Amino acid sequence: MRTKLIKSLSLTLTALFAFTAKSISASTADPLLFPRDQFTIETKVVRTANGEKKVKYRSYKHIPYVAKPVDKDYQSLNISVPVKIDDKDLDATHAPILFEIGVGGYMSVNNAQNSSRPNGGMGTPPAGMPAMGMPPMGNRPPQGMNFGNSRADIALAAGYVVVSPGCRGRDNKAADGSYYGKAPAAIVDLKAAVRYIRHNKGILPGNTDQIVSVGCSAGGAISALLGASGNSPLYDSYLKEIGAADDRDDIFGCACFSPITDLEHADGAYEWMYGDSPTRSGLVNQDQSNQLKAIYADYQKSLNLQGKYGYGILTVNNYQNYLLLYYLIPSANKYLSGLNVDRRNEYLAKNKWITWENNNASFSFTDYVTHVGRMKGLPAFDDFNMQAAEPIEFGDKTTNARHFTDFSLQQSTGDKTTTVASDVKKLVNLMNAFYFIGLKNNGCTNNWWLRNGASDNHTSQTVMINLATSLENQNKKVNTWLFWDGGHCADDDPDGFVDWIGEITGYAKK
Ligand code: DHB
Repeated sequence: MRTKLIKSLSLTLTALFAFTAKSISASTADPLLFPRDQFTIETKVVRTANGEKKVKYRSYKHIPYVAKPVDKDYQSLNISVPVKIDDKDLDATHAPILFEIGVGGYMSVNNAQNSSRPNGGMGTPPAGMPAMGMPPMGNRPPQGMNFGNSRADIALAAGYVVVSPGCRGRDNKAADGSYYGKAPAAIVDLKAAVRYIRHNKGILPGNTDQIVSVGCSAGGAISALLGASGNSPLYDSYLKEIGAADDRDDIFGCACFSPITDLEHADGAYEWMYGDSPTRSGLVNQDQSNQLKAIYADYQKSLNLQGKYGYGILTVNNYQNYLLLYYLIPSANKYLSGLNVDRRNEYLAKNKWITWENNNASFSFTDYVTHVGRMKGLPAFDDFNMQAAEPIEFGDKTTNARHFTDFSLQQSTGDKTTTVASDVKKLVNLMNAFYFIGLKNNGCTNNWWLRNGASDNHTSQTVMINLATSLENQNKKVNTWLFWDGGHCADDDPDGFVDWIGEITGYAKK
């Protein structure tokens, strides 16, 4: 009798407990829980260096990654999880996660559009911006030009998980005419997406401690920023506002193709490289070009960057030689030695500025710059008419574009004493990887893959090499290369990139 009573009491208690637990869980349901069962199965054939691979994968589409989205068309992500490669089943539970940033031109990335290129929203470039992906390509057709898709597919075919987040950008405008994607919205959203992945550790397939970001151009700059600014409290209030998961946002590795970064110093760096080269409409204003060169000279010195192998501090005076010695000549050598004799002779006949002797190229920096040619006007980024991507990125809710450098602000206003307001300066810092490298931010990732086309004239070559050098000076593992004659976002080696992820994570390719 007594046992019966205890049994029935315990049953009642269990039922009561179950009921209470259920109602608690219903009222506290995690809005950021990954819906692991809501996928479709898709297949694609991927061309890799090791031949074609048929990949079957789970496709998760349009998953909001913040609890209080401003616009969930943008603040959502897609995930691809490989389950079978050719005839072999595969478990991606512990695979690295490629975090594919589709930003171009500091524009938004719409995750609601089912576009094959992640940044489906990029559309026609605004006035003053070159058509993305259509840079001058030097003397050969673009090789492996791909803005991410083939890289991501090769990663998927290697057995990695691929996350493609949308994010807000400088073009986002609400019905009431207000802007809601100006700086620092893109980086805040991408950090929120990283936190979402981390928040779902053990639920979302893949190793949430091995997130590797990749992006090109503005996306390369934001990838660098994500890599350098991990866990910085400076974004906390922005992240809280959109209901981001309360988790870490540092990443394991960072890949940057043609990063358009260090924006507030990029105008001077551009003049250092292209100030003496004519645009299609002739030389830029030489007085202004010289002023920008002088500003850049001081800045370059202030970075106090140590060149490789005891080269000394990099300055505007020794940088040409440094680029030739460690980046441009090795790049040309690799390209030329990879050609057969006939093709090489043909190339050299068209490029008499290059001397080829004992399997070694030599040329002057001036001839190289002439070969590449100047693309942008002056100033290249913070342009006086504020038509370029960058002043528009630094607009605010009610202002489409704002100057973000003292030089352009002074030239535009005619007031030589005025300086950029402190709130704009703060935004400029929040968008610049160098700011966080300078702070020696603890959450800065250790692993870096930096790539640019040697003929990319969207920014000075010093920008990415300063990034490489500042990271090398902090003993980070940095893998840097210029693709000879490659243009903006060139990627001649997407398989090498995917292999690199395998190396840094220790995860064997499938
Ligand atoms: C991009 C290109 C640019 O020249 C620039 O100033 C900013 C962004 C891009 O391709 O993303």
